[in-house]
Amino acid sequence: MNVTEAIRARRSIRKFTGAEIPQEHLDIILEAAMMCPSARNMRPYEFAVIKSNEIKDAIANISPNFKMILNASCAIAVCGRPDLEEGMGHEFWQQDCSAATENILLQALELGYGTCWCGTYPVPERVAGVRAALGITDENCIPFALIALGVPAENPAPRGFYDKTRVKYY
Ligand SMILES: Cc1cc2nc3c(=O)[nH]c(=O)nc-3n(C[C@H](O)[C@H](O)[C@H](O)COP(=O)(O)O)c2cc1C
Repeated sequence: MNVTEAIRARRSIRKFTGAEIPQEHLDIILEAAMMCPSARNMRPYEFAVIKSNEIKDAIANISPNFKMILNASCAIAVCGRPDLEEGMGHEFWQQDCSAATENILLQALELGYGTCWCGTYPVPERVAGVRAALGITDENCIPFALIALGVPAENPAPRGFYDKTRVKYY
């Protein structure tokens, strides 16, 4: 699968078989995350891989939008680390974390896995809920997104969203 195919085939997956993902695949997925572009190459992020059923239960209770995490193999919490942007003068960590998140979705797809991006930041109760579930006490570590990751048990058809009216040429 090349990049053109992956971008167009990707769909959010909310049903998973529950099968495990081997560590070497998790390593490739996390490496892809950290290959993302980053403002001034500060790389203000860290990642938590959540396999524990107890923590998955706690996360699924934060929001009905997170329920699919229960049947995923694992969830990856993409966390921002604004403290690592010191001296930058602007906050770009949300953009870096978005780029890392998209890399995870596309790399996982190429390896045969399904994903769903679960928006966390800036919804206060979701950020606080993920913090509590993971026991994050460091104020500098901000849960940005959760990604449900696993072997898909559904196969939604690709869709096209290209809309020429949203593009202006100058
Ligand atoms: C920032 C962001 C937050 C999202 N949050 C959720 C979520 O909490 N739960 C969920 O089921 N899907 C979530 N999604 C997935 C979107 O619903 C999905 O991408 C959109 O409906 C388009 O469908 P597709 O991904 O299959 O193309 C989120 C996507 C983004 C980019």
